[in-house]
Amino acid sequence: MHQTLTVNTRGAGIKGVVQVPGDKSISHRALILSALAEGTSTITGLSRGEDPTHTRHALAQFGVRHQDQPDDTVRVQGGLRHEAEDVLDCGNAGTGIRLLAGVCAGFRGLSVLTGDQYLRRRPMDRIAVPLRKMGAVVAGRANGRLAPLMIRGGNLSGITYELPVASAQLKSCVLLAGLSAAGPTTVIEPHPTRRHTEEMLLAAGARVDVQGTAVTVHPGPLLPTHHRVPGDPSQAAFWAVAGALAGEVEIPGLYLGYGRTDFLDILRRMGADVAVEESSGTVRVAASRLRGVDITGAEVPGIVDEIPVLAVAAAGAEGTTVISGAAELRVKESDRIASTVAMLKAFGVDAQERPDGMVVHGRPDFVQARVDSAGDHRIAMAAAVAAVARSHGETTISGWESVATSYPGFAEHLRTLSGATTSLQDD
Ligand code: S3P
Repeated sequence: MHQTLTVNTRGAGIKGVVQVPGDKSISHRALILSALAEGTSTITGLSRGEDPTHTRHALAQFGVRHQDQPDDTVRVQGGLRHEAEDVLDCGNAGTGIRLLAGVCAGFRGLSVLTGDQYLRRRPMDRIAVPLRKMGAVVAGRANGRLAPLMIRGGNLSGITYELPVASAQLKSCVLLAGLSAAGPTTVIEPHPTRRHTEEMLLAAGARVDVQGTAVTVHPGPLLPTHHRVPGDPSQAAFWAVAGALAGEVEIPGLYLGYGRTDFLDILRRMGADVAVEESSGTVRVAASRLRGVDITGAEVPGIVDEIPVLAVAAAGAEGTTVISGAAELRVKESDRIASTVAMLKAFGVDAQERPDGMVVHGRPDFVQARVDSAGDHRIAMAAAVAAVARSHGETTISGWESVATSYPGFAEHLRTLSGATTSLQDD
C-alpha cells in the first residue's frame, strides 16, 4: 500500500524532547545473536520497525521462539533447530539480508533469502564472494548478484578477507559466518565502520580480536545475553538537523558509540550548537547560523545513513556544501545521491549530482514541495524535516509508507515537536 503524507507547517519551528526508537543496527544483531545462543536471551528497547521485525520472523522459521513480555522485553529461546521452513523475507532490510546470509552460510541446510522490490535491486555479490570462499554454495538472480539468494551452508573454513568496500553489513556477514567455520576468520576494512557486531559478539562470549583495521572472530558457541537496545542516533539525526535549522531539540537515551555520532561533528563544523551528555546518551541541538562544508570520502562510512538529512542542513546553510567519496549511497534503499538531490530540488534548492556525491547551495527559505521518497524511509523523513524547518505552507511526501521500516511513530513526533498538522492518505 502506498501512502502520501501532507504536512502543513505553521512556521513555528521545532521545539521539545523526543525519544527515538531503539537502534536498528543493534536490534537486528540482538535478534540474530539471541537466536544463535542456546538458551534464553532477553532484549529490551528493540526497534519495532518493519526491518528488524522481518529479521525476527526470518529467525522464527528456523525454530527460534520469541515472546513479547508485558514490560516490552522480548524473550528469545535461541538455537537454530531445523532448516528454515520457508523463504526468508527480509523486506526492505539490507542489514537483515546480509547478516542473515552469514548465519545461513554457517548452517547446514538450504536457505532462500529475498526482500521487497528495492532490496532485490541491491548488490549481493559483495557477500556471495566471501561466503563462497569460506565454502558455502551461494546462487542468486543475475549471476549471484541479486536476491533472491539461495545458500547451502555448513562445513565452512576460516578465511582472511579484505573488504572491497567499507561496509559494516559485509563485515558482519563474514564475521557471523566465521562463528561456524573450522578456524579463525579475519576481515580487513578499507575504512573503519560501525562496530556493533564486534562489540555484541564479545558481550555474548565470542572471542574477537581487533588489530587496527583487522577484525578476527574465532569459531565457538554464543552465550545467552541480555541485550539493551539504546536509542537510534541515525533517527535522532532528523531531529538534530531540525533543531539546528529551526529551534531546539533534546534527544535522550542514544547509542553514542563508535561510528554513529559523526553527524554531530559535521553539524558542529557547520556551526550548529550541539551539546552531548555521555552519561545519559542525551544530545541537545539548538538553531544557529549554519555554513556549508566539504565532506570527503574517509568521513562517509561514519555518516552513511545521515547524508540525506545533512544535505537538508546544507540546503539551509549559507554557502556551498560539497560531498564526495560517497558512491556507496547509490546502492542504499534508493540511489541516495539521485533521490536526495531530487528531494532538495523539489524544495527549490540549487543542488547537483556528482558521480560520487553532490553539491548543495544553501538558501534561506524553501518553497512548498511535492516530494517522492523513491521508496526510501530516510528521504521521506529528511523531506519532512525540510518542510517543518524552512518551508511555509503545504508539502506532500509520497511513498511515506517506507517510514514504517525504521520509525513508525515519526509523523506523530513531527506534529508534537513542530505544531505542524499532517494528514495521511492511502493511494
Ligand atoms: C548498517 C550498516 C550501514 C548502514 C545500514 C546499517 C549495519 O551499511 O547504511 O543502514 O547495521 O551494519 P554499510 O553496510 O554500507 O556500512
